[in-house]
Amino acid sequence: MSEQQPQQSSDVKTEQTSNDTKKDNPYPIKYEYELLPEDYTNFDISFKLIVIGDSGVGKSSLTNNAVKNVFEESYNATVGFEFFTFNVRMCGKVVKLQIWDTCGQELYRSLITNFYRNSSLAVIVYAINSKETFENIEMWLRELRTHSSPDIKIYLIGNKADLEKEREVTKESAEEYCKLNKIPIFMEASAKTGLNAQNIFLKAAEMLYDDYNLYQSKKKDEDDFESGKDENKKLGDTDSDNKKGGCC
Ligand code: GTP
Ligand code: MG
Repeated sequence: MSEQQPQQSSDVKTEQTSNDTKKDNPYPIKYEYELLPEDYTNFDISFKLIVIGDSGVGKSSLTNNAVKNVFEESYNATVGFEFFTFNVRMCGKVVKLQIWDTCGQELYRSLITNFYRNSSLAVIVYAINSKETFENIEMWLRELRTHSSPDIKIYLIGNKADLEKEREVTKESAEEYCKLNKIPIFMEASAKTGLNAQNIFLKAAEMLYDDYNLYQSKKKDEDDFESGKDENKKLGDTDSDNKKGGCC
């Protein structure tokens, strides 16, 4: 497969942004990566991801910031959904995230439940300056449990972190909520300043890529076992487990 090169060198980034300090981002990316343009056509692995949460919390703004590096102050409510792609090369493989940015309005909710089913990961967004949007996470989790695959991964994002003076939801209460609900990733973010916007999707790509490798490795072990190639495995040797995960 011949690969299209990024059109400009500015498309390629291998370092994390200046906002991306360890304090703000507790989940640094463990692999070297290269961001690729949105219209990059080739890929090795592709995953579907859905962004959900109340109307106005900044789902579209975060996605636009991560993919197109833009931010608009004006509010244009999403009607139904909008589709984005986020491409990144990790460990020599091009990972494509197909992002469904959905509308928060109840009117269109039945429309978006169709996307839940095929998504590998759901990003639930609330705004740190609105307690109501945080309390509604419960409802979004219920929606996910009803309509998505049981093994869907869930991230929680507290957006509008730049509005510190208007804060209604503490970081600690969100962390506690994640602990109770077994949500493994929580970040505060700001579509306005760019804080963690790209990280949300980079971390998603990394996590899904790791899962994919684990799945492939297990599948290979099973195939080898069935075809009788892996004699060690037959004898109960677990050395092949060392191959799982990671790359560079
Ligand atoms: P729906 O499409 O209706 O579900 O809303 P949404 O969640 O996509 O919200 P959207 O991204 O359209 O943002 C709503 C408003 O919040 C817009 O006026 C944005 O400019 C503003 N906004 C979004 N993110 C941020 C942020 O991080 N900080 C600040 N200060 N404003 C933000
Ligand atoms: Mg929107």
